Amino acid sequence: MTSTLITGIGELTTKDPELGRLTDAALVFTDGLVAWVGPATSAPAADARVDVEGRAVLPGWVDSHTHLLFAGDRTAEFEARMAGTSYTAGGIAVTVGATRAASDREVEDNLRRHIAEAVSQGTTTIETKTGYGLNVVDEVRSARIAAGVADEVTFLGAHLVPPGADADEYVALVIGDMLDAVAPHVRWADVFCEQGAFDEDQSRAVLEASRAKGLGLRVHGNQLGEGPGVRLAVEVGAASVDHCTYLSSADVDALAGSSTVATLLPACDLSTRQSLPPARRLLDAGATVALASNCNPGSSYTTSMAYCITTAVLQMRMTIEEAVTAATLNGAKALRRNDVGHLSPGARADVHVLDAPSTTHLAYRPGVPLTRAVWRAGVRQR
Ligand code: NIG
Repeated sequence: MTSTLITGIGELTTKDPELGRLTDAALVFTDGLVAWVGPATSAPAADARVDVEGRAVLPGWVDSHTHLLFAGDRTAEFEARMAGTSYTAGGIAVTVGATRAASDREVEDNLRRHIAEAVSQGTTTIETKTGYGLNVVDEVRSARIAAGVADEVTFLGAHLVPPGADADEYVALVIGDMLDAVAPHVRWADVFCEQGAFDEDQSRAVLEASRAKGLGLRVHGNQLGEGPGVRLAVEVGAASVDHCTYLSSADVDALAGSSTVATLLPACDLSTRQSLPPARRLLDAGATVALASNCNPGSSYTTSMAYCITTAVLQMRMTIEEAVTAATLNGAKALRRNDVGHLSPGARADVHVLDAPSTTHLAYRPGVPLTRAVWRAGVRQR
């Protein structure tokens, strides 16, 4: 057993409902798990001691939505968008071509590089999706590569109907041979339920078949306009519905009355020149709101959870407290995980030290890299 004491914590955000936020605090972790949390003056001894000299400490970010199994680049599409071209789901096909053409090594190196980039900014749990293969061979390859590297892996064969394919035939493939081959490597299945991707009936078919295979469910919904995604996600009991940019009152009410997390992806909305999601309406109605990066080469090429939090506070009118909860505890809820996203005794020792006295600085100092140190399961990452 090796134990580490982190002391001199100016502000300790635990996200534990009873412990809340402490000042002048300390935390001990032993063998990768939080062992003790409390006032610095009564901290127990440990094998190693780190004094963070008044800085803020919080749980590592839980980034519950990324698409990191890709190759290639879409800078030209981004430039066109900044010049006024609209974002459409069709751009996905460009990355599908580049990903299919890449070697396993390239796809894995890209995945590892982006995860390392995220970890260096305080992310300690990360989900990622297939969805740039769109045939049995390439979807299985992506799932297999991700299974050894990411914390949570999602099957997104239903990301786009490949150009030239018949939609109903493609859905039959996704819920047949593709699902059979990919399911052993993943915990989750997802569908892009949107105009230009999959309609309500096709999405329901994907979700029902995936559930029958034992996979947990997630939905991409209401990204480019109002539509059936949120309603369907709640109906099937999905863990999360992601984007939620355009919501009717009925969508907000449905989310508020459900255990489906509304995962907001503000970096994507900014990069695609959409409105920002109605976070206040969701929170005021009682919905559980998470924030995630949606890192992908098309619509949101960032691994920065801090950027999402800054945006959520400055532009979406979330409080700092709500935004930090959304990026930690509620990210974990979106993944149905109770071992991460908080620093209660027994939780995984995912510890993020800011180079700041409080989490308020995440919004007060926009764009400034504030990650000072990161431990993941008790192992120092930076
Ligand atoms: O979450 N919405 C669908 N999928 C991604 C976009 C992927 C892409 O454009 O490559 C998203 O925004």
